[in-house]
Amino acid sequence: MTDALAAPGTIPSGDRASGAVPQHIAIIMDGNGRWAQARHRPRLIGHRAGARAVKRCVEFCLQRGIGALTLFAFSSENWDRPSDEVSGLMRLFIGALDREVDELARLGVRLRFIGERERFPTGIRERMHSTEIRTAGNARLHLNIAASYGGQQDIARAARELASEVAAGRLQPEQIDATALSSRMALADLPPPDLFIRTGGELRISNFLLWQLAYTELWFTEVLWPDVDAVLLQSALDAYAARERRFGLTSEQIQAKDGAKAP
Ligand code: IPE
Ligand code: IPE
Ligand code: MG
Repeated sequence: MTDALAAPGTIPSGDRASGAVPQHIAIIMDGNGRWAQARHRPRLIGHRAGARAVKRCVEFCLQRGIGALTLFAFSSENWDRPSDEVSGLMRLFIGALDREVDELARLGVRLRFIGERERFPTGIRERMHSTEIRTAGNARLHLNIAASYGGQQDIARAARELASEVAAGRLQPEQIDATALSSRMALADLPPPDLFIRTGGELRISNFLLWQLAYTELWFTEVLWPDVDAVLLQSALDAYAARERRFGLTSEQIQAKDGAKAP
């Protein structure tokens, strides 16, 4: 495990500028439906191909020593899709968990699920829980699956928690600041994503990690999720390595910091 992940929830301060490998990648895996439609197949075939791309992506992160991967699998709004697509996705989800968890556990992956879990049927909730317990001791790769997740809902839930603490007299309203809210958000124990990837060509966040992406580098590609492979992921890493992360500072300040750190 890297130092970056050993320090929970810290805001990086320019220490991962040019040339760096992202320690936490967040991905909107979009384009499954269009991938299937282009082949005149049902959308669910696209989701199945998408599950294979997830495996390739996890293998890539393990090979590159990336410490955390957060995948947007199903949004709060996706519940409103046609019911056969939603139920097909649930079956796919169950199948993938039943098939893959042993191997992921063996590889040292820690799996966690973020989102409104209460909306899932009991069978899925139980599998999520047992998978989390089973892999809780792993630390090679934190694999976070955002399922029934919405960034606005995440912020609202964190605000609700703070409000309850104020109501209970454990917290003063003056103590509510960005740090307090951060500590109640999903993934609070991990550093925020360094790199965000969206496949499928849409240039939007679609209610993914709104709070956590504040200073994340964004990378978009037209490639549809089922076509994603190591070559594409490497081009995202290369683009990331060429960027200068400034966190509100000037380029000169960042270069001075980097110079001070150089051996
Ligand atoms: C993303 O692919 C997967 C989910 C939202 C579950 P889509 O199903 O959104 O694929 P497109 O965008 O319609 O091609
Ligand atoms: C975002 O994709 C959600 C997931 C990939 C799970 P959508 O396909 O739902 O997003 P929109 O509707 O194009 O914004
Ligand atoms: Mg889509």
